[in-house]
Amino acid sequence: MTLQGHPSISPPRDELRPAQQLRGEVTPPSDKSIAHRALMATAIAHGQAHLGIRWPGLDVMATLDALRVLGADIGDAVAGEDPEEPLRVHMRGLGSAHELGRLGGGEVDCRNSGTTMRLLSGLAAAACGPVRLTGDDSLSRRPMERVAQPLRRMGVEVTTSEGRPPLLITGRRSLTPLDHQLDIASAQVLGAISFAALYADGPSTIEVPGPTRDHTERLLSWLGAAIERREGAERASTVTTIQGPAVLRARDLTVPGDPSSATPWLVAAALHPGASLTVRRVMLNPSRLAVVDVLRQMGAAIDVQAAPDLDGAAGEPIGDITVTGGAELSAVDIRPPATASLIDELPLLAIAMAGARGTSQVTGAGELRNKESDRVAATTQLLDGIGASVQELPTGWRISRGRPRAAVIATQGDHRIAIAAAVAAWTGLATGVTLDDAACVAVSYPTFWRDARGLACLA
Ligand code: S3P
Repeated sequence: MTLQGHPSISPPRDELRPAQQLRGEVTPPSDKSIAHRALMATAIAHGQAHLGIRWPGLDVMATLDALRVLGADIGDAVAGEDPEEPLRVHMRGLGSAHELGRLGGGEVDCRNSGTTMRLLSGLAAAACGPVRLTGDDSLSRRPMERVAQPLRRMGVEVTTSEGRPPLLITGRRSLTPLDHQLDIASAQVLGAISFAALYADGPSTIEVPGPTRDHTERLLSWLGAAIERREGAERASTVTTIQGPAVLRARDLTVPGDPSSATPWLVAAALHPGASLTVRRVMLNPSRLAVVDVLRQMGAAIDVQAAPDLDGAAGEPIGDITVTGGAELSAVDIRPPATASLIDELPLLAIAMAGARGTSQVTGAGELRNKESDRVAATTQLLDGIGASVQELPTGWRISRGRPRAAVIATQGDHRIAIAAAVAAWTGLATGVTLDDAACVAVSYPTFWRDARGLACLA
């Protein structure tokens, strides 16, 4: 499957300018975190399922292709008659009613997708042959020992290249149960260990030092595994227990909308005086909605309407979010443990801070330096470029208003930086923005420019 069949996703060639208006409705792509997990879990489950994924980005496609290489039974992806219908991916799980399925060995290019590489390591830990995981230049710089170490403690042979990709994983039939404390609050690492723990010979327990998204727990439990999360003894820590060996039962699923892809529209509308827009069919999992709380705290008028429970949404709540612009935003101070649950939203929140009265501060976001780019540095350059007042800190920024100007932004191929820069232009925080790589938004949001045209912020 390719991105063929998508509507016009063509990136703009011209400079992005302040939008006259920002009104209407938009439906974001399916949540990337859930899509990765649903594809992987269904691949090793018992039975078959149709997974509905709306506008999968390049990262999710990397997972789909990786699973194919490793022997998952994936049929054609079928686009509905209506272009707004999600793509339907038909999968036959490799598992039986009594035993979890196992992927085969092989070499996989995870491209730009850290989530693909880290989560897939957990399945590779029990694969029938050695699995080699590589990535593009950006992914090849990202830390992998955080996944390798716990997997080694489960008896798996894992090598990295001085802590970075490629990863070479030689799996085992039965893994040693793990009792482990993560040093960082990472849902990817927790997810990887959780996948491996499904194959362990007994219960595993993982303590995480801060709030992370809980999609692995919700999805695996919805598919029949005994997995649960409770609060830990330390402030904001969580403890996840997974009972192995597990079996999973495949179930049809339509993956709800990605709150991280809703965020550009929430921030844009909050900053635009005449805005009124609704983001539809968004997943309302509380572990992903901290951004709404922060924007409200800054003074934004945001209404969240939960839909009645939808069957088929992997245990996730879903609904619509409406934002009305006009209120002046005020400064905010974001510090741990809140930072962990805002990690993907921070570049966009930095834009909101650059439009707010007073001086905002973010600390404890050092993990942002390990994303597709060093997002602390890339966001500083973006804010500096558009004329905002920004001071880079070791783990965040201090930000206040400046004097808007036009800028050429080096996205470093990072989708979240490109999207944040576009929002700065549409809301008048820059007088104009030219992106060196507007196409990189397709990593998470292939229909971003189309949706911008639909909301009239782009001609
Ligand atoms: C993700 C977890 C987060 C996030 C990433 C997706 C996931 O990364 O930044 O975009 O799906 O588990 P970390 O686990 O590194 O915090």
